[in-house]
Amino acid sequence: MTDRRQKLAALDWMVAMGADEAIGEESVDRRKSARPATPAPELAPPPAPVMASAPPRESGPDAPLAPAQGAADAREAAAAATDLESLRAALEKFEGCALKQTATNMVFARGNPNAPVMFIGEKPGAEEDREGLPFVGADGKLLDRILSFIGLDDQSVYITNMIFWRPPGNRSPTDAETAACLPFLRRHIALARPRLLVTLGRSTTNTVLGLNSNLNKTRGRWIEYGEGLEAPIPAMPCFHPDYLRSYPAQKREAWMDFLSLREKLDELG
Ligand code: URA
Repeated sequence: MTDRRQKLAALDWMVAMGADEAIGEESVDRRKSARPATPAPELAPPPAPVMASAPPRESGPDAPLAPAQGAADAREAAAAATDLESLRAALEKFEGCALKQTATNMVFARGNPNAPVMFIGEKPGAEEDREGLPFVGADGKLLDRILSFIGLDDQSVYITNMIFWRPPGNRSPTDAETAACLPFLRRHIALARPRLLVTLGRSTTNTVLGLNSNLNKTRGRWIEYGEGLEAPIPAMPCFHPDYLRSYPAQKREAWMDFLSLREKLDELG
């Protein structure tokens, strides 16, 4: 992105966020002062929602699926997928996540699977459940708007979620539900092979990147993600659009993070 286009996009963004008045003679580069001084996020061992080996399954057609069995089945089914279509088909057949029973549609992905950057949200909401596509409701509209400010559209990004079915009433997914979806997400990343990842929100960031950290510390930093990949790729945590809608003052930080994404994409060429 040229310097001029970047400045115009920054102005558009500020006006859109309600900053439509200049109050000082001199412009201040707040990007410099706003960067947190702490050098690195607290790295912690990844959460361990998945058991190394699953206990034997109870027999009988109505036997409940043990949570660890769901995760073990997920690892096996995801590993067998050789491309995005077979991964989608494996998820369609997968019965190891209880959320499937209450959801209207599975929500897999939207955008361009060959795009250089892949965005990962947390879970589908009501509109996503109805349409079977991620980020098509109010959060998606804000995400699309932010992307447009840095010159990106549906064809220049690939968007998915950590959870593939909507939790009833938009509740948070349980550990067992997350553990059953995570192997599919990791395989999804490995098969799409994006050059950059963006994790939206604290829960997705901590689960996918194996952190145990506050998003205020991790957002905007580039952290290596290497699960199931031949070579690690840079991943950046960002605020979730839902959070930005509730706390509009954080949009300034979000804007800096998205500028950092734009710079990284420009570096990749
Ligand atoms: N929030 C998410 O995390 N994902 C969606 O698809 C929609 C809202």
